[in-house]
Amino acid sequence: MRLIRAENYQDVSRKAANIIAAQIQLKPYCVLGLATGSSPVGTYRELIAKFEAGDLDFSQVKTVNLDEYVGLPKDHDQSYAYFMRTNLFDHVNIDQANCNIPDGMNPDTEGECARYDAIIDGFGGADLQLLGLGPNGHIGFNEPAEAFAKGTNKVALTDSTIDANARFFASRDDVPTHAYTMGIGSIMKAKRVLLVVNGVKKAQAVKDCFFGPIRPQAPGSILQLHPDFILVADEDALSLVRDLL
Ligand code: GLP
Repeated sequence: MRLIRAENYQDVSRKAANIIAAQIQLKPYCVLGLATGSSPVGTYRELIAKFEAGDLDFSQVKTVNLDEYVGLPKDHDQSYAYFMRTNLFDHVNIDQANCNIPDGMNPDTEGECARYDAIIDGFGGADLQLLGLGPNGHIGFNEPAEAFAKGTNKVALTDSTIDANARFFASRDDVPTHAYTMGIGSIMKAKRVLLVVNGVKKAQAVKDCFFGPIRPQAPGSILQLHPDFILVADEDALSLVRDLL
């Protein structure tokens, strides 16, 4: 694990965007694994600024998103498909035909998971997978569990995740209870993993996942085994591990 320390959220976003920009510049036809949630929003903003400055070309980039809520259509303003369009895709010259995301409206669970795994495997895994970290240590929507999930799967969201995501919906009852997510195995197929995390609310998860034992109850902990894992964290997120650094 390579730790890049950042002062605050803006600094996390700038540092992460620089790494992604370098990836695109070195391999213009790269496959980016992308994430949603509030953590990567600043990173996307920085990437858009680099595009507008003429420093980045997304025309050959392909993407695979981590996850999608079950039951939300692509045009629902809380679907992750909508999030990606409004936070990144609509603002850069990416071909949206090259952007993949699980279909939350596909009722055929097995079929949807197999379809998505085939896309990831067709790419041979992402060149770079961007991740956020849930307050309970989840990555994608891989919640704390008894085992690490290998491929794409449909998960029941934990109460704490539903609580954490309720702020984006009109009421807690509107938060979907299930999601399709890339498995831990699919995430680990990425050649490089870049996780962005900020804020004291994530400090315990950072400690459990990256400074403790590797176990499925702390899903992000598996990343300690990845050969090219970069953690970009701000000082607040590192507040419980300062004496270990
Ligand atoms: C959601 C997403 C995750 C994300 C997590 C943290 O549950 N499925 O991919 O990392 O939330 O969200 P935030 O960045 O808003 O704290």
